[in-house]
Amino acid sequence: MSYRLAQRAGTEPRTDPGGDRISSLTGGRVPGHIAIIMDGNGRWATERGLPRAAGHRAGAENIRRVIERFAEHDVRYVTLFAFSTENWNRPASEVSVIFQLIDRFLQRELDNMQRDNVRIRHFGHLEQLPAALAVRVKDAVAITRGNDGLMLNICLSYGSRDEIVTAIQRIAEEGVPAAEIDEATVSSHLLTGGLPDPDLVIRTAGEQRISNFLLWQSAYAELYFTSAYWPDFGREDVDLALAEYGRRKRKFGKLLPEDLDAFEDA
Ligand code: FPP
Repeated sequence: MSYRLAQRAGTEPRTDPGGDRISSLTGGRVPGHIAIIMDGNGRWATERGLPRAAGHRAGAENIRRVIERFAEHDVRYVTLFAFSTENWNRPASEVSVIFQLIDRFLQRELDNMQRDNVRIRHFGHLEQLPAALAVRVKDAVAITRGNDGLMLNICLSYGSRDEIVTAIQRIAEEGVPAAEIDEATVSSHLLTGGLPDPDLVIRTAGEQRISNFLLWQSAYAELYFTSAYWPDFGREDVDLALAEYGRRKRKFGKLLPEDLDAFEDA
């Protein structure tokens, strides 16, 4: 198995006439950028009579198979909500388990990702993380910087409001005149500056909220909620989510050509 995109690196992704990307696997429309709120690790474990840590372990192990499936479909950008600014309010023992799992994931997968041309990026407060994990994250980002295959963004000690406030502070510090601040100014000062916005946000475990994740960037994302707990969200679930995305009509506040025809006929 591999994280390598199905299409050759450096080639422009295939798109349909509307500009949507085309899956190498199914020929269907796929999102260029998928963001995921990996929820339900705790419930997965509790329902099995296991400690919550076992749920996080199963959740961490699931990341590989989901990203591999995205790569098979040629999804170029994947953003994972691994640990939020609010997650610091969990018991220290649970926080420590999550950090250990992230550390182990990066340790275990870095060589495979480097081999498969994956670029790893981090969004969030590196300085708040335990020193060893911060080094692990920094190294993974530095080692994979030159790769141009799938981009894996790991949000770790990340909160979207915090990101927006920091962007506004930076704009103010740069002395940009108020009248010159537009949406592009804000977008480019976010941690995700230069990346395409998410096309699809997936949240597992039945909750239907965004929880301070990519608030600005998801303005026009399609939202997909599934009752599957994150450790159970497998390759078939990826395919179901992509099939649902393929059925969505994305209008970005405008009218689709067929709606315009109907308007003119009236
Ligand atoms: C939400 O489930 C999950 C988290 C807060 C942590 C997500 C972290 C991982 C999957 C670990 C590894 C991450 C990487 C990038 C390797 P929950 O605990 O809120 O579940 P519950 O709502 O059922 O209690």
